[in-house]
Amino acid sequence: MTESYGPPLPVRELRQARLDQLARLRLPYRHLAAVATPAGCLVVAFATDSVLLSRLFAGNWAPADSDRQPDATLRVLARPARDYGLDGTWDEARWWSSSARTMVLFTADYHLVKVCIRGICSAVSGHDLVFLHGCALSVHDRDRSRGVAIMGSSGAGKTALVASVSERRGYAVRVVNDDWGPVSAHSAAASGTGEMRLHMKTQSVLALRPGFFAAVPPDAYARDLSDADPSSRLLVEPEYVYGARWERGIIVIDNIVVIVREPPGWQPPDRPPQALELLSRGGYSGYFRRNEPFFNGSLMLRTEAEWSREVTRYEKLLERVSLSWINNCGTVDELTGKFLSAVMGQVPPPAAGGEPPAS
Ligand SMILES: Nc1ncnc2c1ncn2[C@@H]1O[C@H](COP(=O)(O)OP(=O)(O)O)[C@@H](O)[C@H]1O
Ligand SMILES: [Mg+2]
Repeated sequence: MTESYGPPLPVRELRQARLDQLARLRLPYRHLAAVATPAGCLVVAFATDSVLLSRLFAGNWAPADSDRQPDATLRVLARPARDYGLDGTWDEARWWSSSARTMVLFTADYHLVKVCIRGICSAVSGHDLVFLHGCALSVHDRDRSRGVAIMGSSGAGKTALVASVSERRGYAVRVVNDDWGPVSAHSAAASGTGEMRLHMKTQSVLALRPGFFAAVPPDAYARDLSDADPSSRLLVEPEYVYGARWERGIIVIDNIVVIVREPPGWQPPDRPPQALELLSRGGYSGYFRRNEPFFNGSLMLRTEAEWSREVTRYEKLLERVSLSWINNCGTVDELTGKFLSAVMGQVPPPAAGGEPPAS
């Protein structure tokens, strides 16, 4: 599999002098997004001169009340900086001012806009909220129910795992977050972000709902025309992808499961400090050549203070939840078996053909 986008642009300090240079630029499209969290909504303003990005953003996010003061602002210019009479250094980075709570960038596809929103939400949220890259769901069998956050770098196998668990006879899942969302470090409550449509890889949509394109009406999704490969990502209503497995609500996480892709025989860290260190370092996946803190959480951790604030959030969360590591070095079925035994206890092995015996 190839990714149709490169690593996100670095984040640099946006000083007042630079902010002043932007004052004359006209950004005619403006939206206020309500990002739901267990502690209420964060409101992010998005301003752009790109019709396409404006449409995608409006299709993605639930609108906030127009009288709400935004918690942060993202300004995206459609063209390179020189087209606006500004110098080319603007194009080299995403510019972020933590005091003005404003990010500015020139030329972006919607994937980068999404990454910015994620980073901004982590930067402006209170100490109690952790935004996890990964899926938050509850897993149910006949007797028990467990709240789980599945983390791991892009390509680790999170989506393949969720699709596979939900097909196992005897188990049901309820997903509140597909790929990114908030968890309270104090209570371990995870909520959905309230997105009307999710920005998903087409391949993930098909893994979760085979036959998607034949089964849903054409207005159930929009292709991401900002992507170099417009067939690679969709904005899609989660109910069309997950069906009854999608839940708009809050679940409490008992377990964080981190999926890694390492050679067979890899040993997970056995003590909490090492576990936290590995978690914060993120995964190095030779497979996808991605290496970002906290498993690609789209975080903007530039200073010691920002780094240690994020570590503290995780330390607090890990006081409440257990942490398991699973090496996805075999088949998806083996991954599913390891996952179910980590979060649900003993599970019967799948019968021949991949189906477990009925429970
Ligand atoms: N154990 C496995 N064996 C074979 N293919 C796998 C395995 N785990 C994941 N994959 C494949 O790798 C790709 C990336 O997995 P995916 O679940 O989309 O990752 P993530 O959701 O973590 O980004 C998908 O094509 C998926 O089907
Ligand atoms: Mg995925």
